[in-house]
Amino acid sequence: MSWKTVALVGFLVGTVAMAPSMRATAQEGSATAIVTFNKDVLPILQKNCQTCHRPGEVAPMSLLTYQEVRPWAKAIKGAVVSRTMPPWFADPAYGHFTNDMRLSDADIKTLVAWIDGSASEGNAKDKPAPVTFVEGWGLEPEMVIEMPQDIHLKATGTINYQNILVKVNFPEDRWVVAADLRPGNAQVVHHMRANIRPPGSAFMKGAVPGVAYDTADPVNGPGNDLDLLGKFNPGLGAQDFSRYESAKFVPKGSDVVFNMHYTATGKETTDRSRLALVFAKHPPKLRYFVNVGPQALNLVIPAGDRNAQIVSEMTVTADTQLVYMQPHMHVRGKDYEVRLFFPSGESKTIFKAKWDFNWQQGVDLDKPIPLPAGTRIVGIAHFNNSAENKSNPDPTKVVLWGPQNWDEMQNCFMGFLVDPGMKDPTKLFKVSGPSLLPKGTFGPTLATLSLTAQQ
Ligand code: HEC
Repeated sequence: MSWKTVALVGFLVGTVAMAPSMRATAQEGSATAIVTFNKDVLPILQKNCQTCHRPGEVAPMSLLTYQEVRPWAKAIKGAVVSRTMPPWFADPAYGHFTNDMRLSDADIKTLVAWIDGSASEGNAKDKPAPVTFVEGWGLEPEMVIEMPQDIHLKATGTINYQNILVKVNFPEDRWVVAADLRPGNAQVVHHMRANIRPPGSAFMKGAVPGVAYDTADPVNGPGNDLDLLGKFNPGLGAQDFSRYESAKFVPKGSDVVFNMHYTATGKETTDRSRLALVFAKHPPKLRYFVNVGPQALNLVIPAGDRNAQIVSEMTVTADTQLVYMQPHMHVRGKDYEVRLFFPSGESKTIFKAKWDFNWQQGVDLDKPIPLPAGTRIVGIAHFNNSAENKSNPDPTKVVLWGPQNWDEMQNCFMGFLVDPGMKDPTKLFKVSGPSLLPKGTFGPTLATLSLTAQQ
C-alpha cells in the first residue's frame, strides 16, 4: 500500500488517526469510509444476532453494545466465516426457505473488515436506536395453555429432551391459524415444540399431567399420531398457518404435549412455558398437517462406521403439497437429504442439511411443492458412529432405532396441505421402499432403492 492511498483514505474520512482499518479498507480495493461498530456492525448484529444474544436469552453472551461485543470480535469472526452462527444448517443450493437465518456475504465481509481492521466504535451519531424486542405474545391470544407446574432443572450437565402432558381436553373441534410459544425462563429453553395429542392416542397414556418425562421414558409410547401445533426457537416468534387459506386442526378431546430442549445454566432453576393460540373465523380451504415423514425403523448402523448411510421412504397416496421439513436424528447424525421420486420418473433433491442434534431446526418452504399421488419421498441420512464423533457415546456398538440418545432415529417431520374434510390424513401416506425391508447388517442404503422401486 502506498502512502498516497493512506492519505486519500484519510482525506475521505477526515481523519488519519485510524491507520489499521485504513490498511484493511485499502486492501479491499475500496476507498470508502472505515468500517465502524456504530455505523456498520451494530445494524448487522441487531438484525441477525440480538434475538438470542441479549440478557436473559439462550446464547452465552450479550451482543448489544460495543463494550459487550469487542472482547468477542475474534470468536465472532470465526463463527460467521465458518457460518456456525447464526445457526442454520440447510444447504443454500437446495430450496428457498422463508425462515433462512444466514448472513449475506456482504454482511460477513463487513464484520470481518471491522474485526481485521480498527475494530473501533466509530462516531456516536452513526449509532442506530436500540431494538425493542417483543417480550410478550407475538399475537392476540384467544387461548393460553400453560404448563400446570414449574419444571425443576438441574444446574449442570446434559438435560435430555423432556415431554410434558397438559390435559386441555379441547371441548370442541378447533381450527388454529396462529400459535406462539413463550418460555417461562428463556435462559434455559433452547427450543421447544407443542404437539397435539388426539383423543384415544396411546402417547403418554399413563403420564401424570404436568410432570416432565425424559423422551426415552417408556410412558411416552408410540407418537406417530401427533401433529405439530407450534414451536419455539429463539427469535422465531409467532407462527402463522393461514398463508394458504390454511389452518391446523385440533380435534375435540385433544391434549397438548410440550417437547422441551432445556440447557443447564450453571444454577438450579425452573421453567413454566406457555402456548398461545388464535382460532380461525371460518373453516379453512386447506388443513396444515404435520406428520413424522419417512422413517427408518429398520436402521442398522455398523460399529465404528464414520459415514453410515441410512435411507427411508414413504409414498403419497393422493395429491398433496409439501410446505415444511424438519429432519430428526440423534447424536450420531451428520446430514440429511430429502429426494422426491415423481411418478413421471423424474427425481429431485429438495432439501439438504448438516445435522446438529442440539438445534432440531425446521425449514418453511417459500412455495409449496405439489406432490402428485404416487410420489415417493425418500430421506437419505448419514451417521458418524466412529470415535471421531465427539458426541458418540459408544463407537463400538451397532446402533438400532430407539428412543434413547444412544439409540438412533432417522425421520423427517413434514408439513402438508391437505383437504380439511379428510378424516385421517395419516392415510395419505404409506410406508414404502427401503423402509419395508427387514433389518440387515447395515443400512438400508440407497442401493436398495432401485430394488424396491417397482410399482
Ligand atoms: C437462534 C439464536 C442465535 C442467533 C440468531 C445467533 N446466535 Fe450465536 N449462539 C447462540 C447459542 C445458543 C450459542 C451457544 C452455542 C450453541 O448452542 O451452539 C451461540 C454461540 C455463539 C458464539 C460462540 C461463543 C463461544 O463460546 O465461543 C459466537 C461467537 C456467536 N454465537 C456469535 C453470533 C453472531 C455474531 C450472531 C449473528 C450474526 C449470532 N451468534 C446469532 C444462539 C444464537
